[in-house]
Amino acid sequence: MKQSHNLKVNIPSKSAYSYDIIIGEDLLARANELVKAHTKAQKFFIVTNETVANLYKSRLNIENSFWLILKDGEEYKNFETLKHIIDSCVKNRLERQDCIIAFGGGVIGDMAGFAAASYMRGVDFIQIPTTLLADVDSSVGGKVAINHEHGKNLIGAFYQPKAVIIDTNVLKTLDLRQLKTGLAEVLKYAFIEKTCGYEKDFGLYDFLKQNRQKIFALDSAIVSELIYMCCTLKACVVNKDETEKGLRAILNLGHTFAHAIENLTNYTVYTHGEAVAAGMKMAFKLSLTKGLIDENYHNTAVSLIDEYDLIPPMQDFDKEKFYDEMFLDKKAQNGKVRFVLPNGLFNVEITSDVNKEEVFEVL
Ligand code: NAD
Ligand code: GLY
Repeated sequence: MKQSHNLKVNIPSKSAYSYDIIIGEDLLARANELVKAHTKAQKFFIVTNETVANLYKSRLNIENSFWLILKDGEEYKNFETLKHIIDSCVKNRLERQDCIIAFGGGVIGDMAGFAAASYMRGVDFIQIPTTLLADVDSSVGGKVAINHEHGKNLIGAFYQPKAVIIDTNVLKTLDLRQLKTGLAEVLKYAFIEKTCGYEKDFGLYDFLKQNRQKIFALDSAIVSELIYMCCTLKACVVNKDETEKGLRAILNLGHTFAHAIENLTNYTVYTHGEAVAAGMKMAFKLSLTKGLIDENYHNTAVSLIDEYDLIPPMQDFDKEKFYDEMFLDKKAQNGKVRFVLPNGLFNVEITSDVNKEEVFEVL
């Protein structure tokens, strides 16, 4: 049986703006109908990359659409490619009431989303994510951006899509490393589940413990359920704090450390998820050092990360350089680094109350 889930993101500050996240098997085959149910646009501009186009262009048939196929890679998430996207909008006479569709992983979603936010001061935008990371994180919540030579995602906007259409079938062509990078973000939701404040307790940690083999085998019912739980938790957070004034920062568990790892290795050695998984372990160790959690919970959390085997061997980082790098994170405020730290079972807090010695102890 084909699994399908629908959920809504409701942002109260935007006069009840809401959008659907539709999760299911083989949704590419229904994309034309689903897209049209979520926008009044008559013309569609589909932005993707060469890898995704080679695999899936023939499966995504949207009436009255034109395509832009970009080179594949984070290194293309820049001004030049943004200009290329906007030039293509102009050349193809995309109008204010038309729609941009992002068809790809987080790189495509972020770039096409930013183009949609800025072209003609905003055109409709639909996300059709194709990586697990994009399914559970980047396609939901409206953060769109490009990189700048001085910082990743430095230029961007909060711009919510009209809908997110998640076809779980396309995950079958992801390589194991890309699957694991998405799984790092999935595990993150297990460790922040209670703080997200969703009305129902999914027990995501137990789900992940019990279903690891099925998840790696991409069992469609299990994967669909997993994506549904993650998107629900993310939507719950975004609904309360769209522009990251407070709560939304909990989605960055492990990311303060991860950004240092990624920056020190020029984003070329580890995937984002590998850095996040390593960063989450560091966050748990820091919490243990500070007495925010006990050893039992620390070991429980770390064992899940280890069971999923998300972290390749990490190089030794110079502690001073690592520490300095954390202060360059764009999420630092008034020169203080904000850490998301576990402080109880599946709960976290946001704090700057961390000293250098404590950080050095976990590196
Ligand atoms: P990505 O978009 O580079 O995709 C990873 C690789 O998988 C690429 O080579 C891509 O072509 C390929 N690919 C995509 N779909 C595929 C499929 N179905 N089968 C086979 N290969 C496929 O990387 P990502 O991990 O999806 O996203 C990372 C980006 O997302 C970063 O730029 C990051 O900054 C951004 N991000 C944004 C947010 C947000 O909230 N907006 C959150 C997290 C990450
Ligand atoms: N990926 C973190 C966020 O969307 O806020």
